[in-house]
Amino acid sequence: MKQRIAIVTGAGSGIGQGIAYALVEAGYRVYATDISEARLASTKAAASSADDLLTRVLDVSDWAAVERVVADVVEHEGALDVMVNSAGVFDGYADVLETTPELWQRVIDVNLSGTFYGCRAAAQVMVKQGHGRIITIGSVAGQRGAADGLSYVASKAGIEGMHRRLAVDVAAHGVTANVVAPGVIKTNLRATSEELLGDLVADQNRGIGVSPDIWNFLIPTRRPGEVHEIASVVVFLASPQASYVNGQVIQVDGGWNAV
Ligand SMILES: NC(=O)c1ccc[n+]([C@@H]2O[C@H](COP(=O)([O-])OP(=O)(O)OC[C@H]3O[C@@H](n4cnc5c(N)ncnc54)[C@H](O)[C@@H]3O)[C@@H](O)[C@H]2O)c1
Repeated sequence: MKQRIAIVTGAGSGIGQGIAYALVEAGYRVYATDISEARLASTKAAASSADDLLTRVLDVSDWAAVERVVADVVEHEGALDVMVNSAGVFDGYADVLETTPELWQRVIDVNLSGTFYGCRAAAQVMVKQGHGRIITIGSVAGQRGAADGLSYVASKAGIEGMHRRLAVDVAAHGVTANVVAPGVIKTNLRATSEELLGDLVADQNRGIGVSPDIWNFLIPTRRPGEVHEIASVVVFLASPQASYVNGQVIQVDGGWNAV
């Protein structure tokens, strides 16, 4: 059987990296992409099968670059079976008065427009080839106002609406589009966002994710999640067993959204 091909954005760290590794373990050939060349090099170095994990530097907020990477993968591999959009930045829990137009624009550019670019480039290929899976990492913030800052909440809510429409557009072509919405997951999101957003964010160490007291109150499971607990759901959505799951937002949050 032909090896299945996946692209993962934001695969230099955290959830995207865990998804890239889990897809390699599941037998895929994975193109791990990230804005940071250094983080991608670490992802590559720790891969269980270096031959099955290739890397490409990619800023998802650049439409032309996203289109170029997808075209390059399809030219080399002849198909694109799975597109995972995981790249994202955190807005430091900034409220409406703290959210400058510049912070708003950058968070929307990366989290929402970057996801749209990945979805569109993948859909162009998948609709034509007659199969494919598009899976995007949303957040509990897509449904809860107090989960994160204003621009982040808006970007993640936008991702959910966009995937409902996307699922409608691609379903008849054998393609599914779903969102996996994590709660609090142990990653470097605050540190990488501080590096990438700089002065646009005043303080990256505020909000629900930093306080065990708040987790214990909000998350019935009473602990943050692990990257592999998100990656396993993505691997399921990419599999043939998930062929009739479409247009869904799957909460993987220890029960937070049920509270
Ligand atoms: N960690 C959590 O608690 C949590 C909860 C809900 C949702 N999420 C979402 O999960 C996704 C992954 O975040 P994470 O927690 O693994 O954080 P992370 O910082 O560990 O990984 C994010 C990666 O995305 C990359 N990235 C950022 N901007 C980019 C751009 N413009 N183009 C390409 N790559 C870019 C970063 O370089 C980094 O390697 C994000 O969409 C985030 O919003 C995280």
